[in-house]
Amino acid sequence: MPVEGRTILMTGGSEGTGLSAARIFARKGANVVIVSRSQAKLDEAIKSIKTEARSPETQRFHAIAADVAEPGYAERVVADAAAWNDGQPPEIVWCLAGLSTPMLWTEEEAMKAARYSMDVNYFGSAEMSRAIMCAWLLPGQGAKQPPTGQSRPAAKHIIFTGSVLSVFSLAGHGTYMPSKFALRALADALAMEERVTALVRKEESHDRRGGVYMGIRQVPGIPNSLTSSFIVHEPMARVA
Ligand SMILES: NC(=O)c1ccc[n+]([C@@H]2O[C@H](COP(=O)([O-])OP(=O)(O)OC[C@H]3O[C@@H](n4cnc5c(N)ncnc54)[C@H](OP(=O)(O)O)[C@@H]3O)[C@@H](O)[C@H]2O)c1
Repeated sequence: MPVEGRTILMTGGSEGTGLSAARIFARKGANVVIVSRSQAKLDEAIKSIKTEARSPETQRFHAIAADVAEPGYAERVVADAAAWNDGQPPEIVWCLAGLSTPMLWTEEEAMKAARYSMDVNYFGSAEMSRAIMCAWLLPGQGAKQPPTGQSRPAAKHIIFTGSVLSVFSLAGHGTYMPSKFALRALADALAMEERVTALVRKEESHDRRGGVYMGIRQVPGIPNSLTSSFIVHEPMARVA
């Protein structure tokens, strides 16, 4: 996935996997917007991302404080990011904010933990994917014409963060696994919908741009081994 000169928005970009990936993107020449709750952590993270910039004089970095568990948070974040990005929504969005609270299902806090896990891991990603898809695909909401001489707009990407526990089951993780399984289902549905949208647009306008090109990736999280080649070569779940 080429990132040089492109703008990437990452939820959960202030530490852990998100921060490591943001630093890699900066090294590769991307503009980066990070989103998480703590402004203090965001400020520190931006400093550390800036030190990696390939072209410090032109690359830009931005932080937005938001709680992804809050219903409706994503519209505000996408609008803020677009206003900062010369009126254009970011072309790549990676939903990383997430948490795991392993416990047995019979423990007292299990239902509370399971609900919160859905709020952050599933709905946090679901809301963001919907807000950015609306910004990309709905008329008048940021769909960008390709520059003169370029026949197609750059591909757009939504990336959901899965886990080994998106595909395997493990005792003690009933509070977490369903949120990651659910993301797989959503990714498949969105990839199908986007194919339909692209076809309809092509039919309607005999679109010279050939529709909107968007890939939706599911990244099995293996944070300790995250490298740039891992990001680039992760196979697409579906590409429209
Ligand atoms: N670590 C693993 O072994 C592992 C394995 C498989 C999958 N994963 C997945 O990989 C992703 C990243 O994991 P990680 O271990 O790198 O996480 P981490 O180090 O705990 O970092 C989590 C990031 O998400 C932010 N965050 C958490 N809750 C949030 C909320 N409600 N709203 C906004 N931001 C929030 C945190 O910042 P604030 O606290 O300041 O908000 C932080 O920037 C998660 O989706 C996780 O499920 C991790």
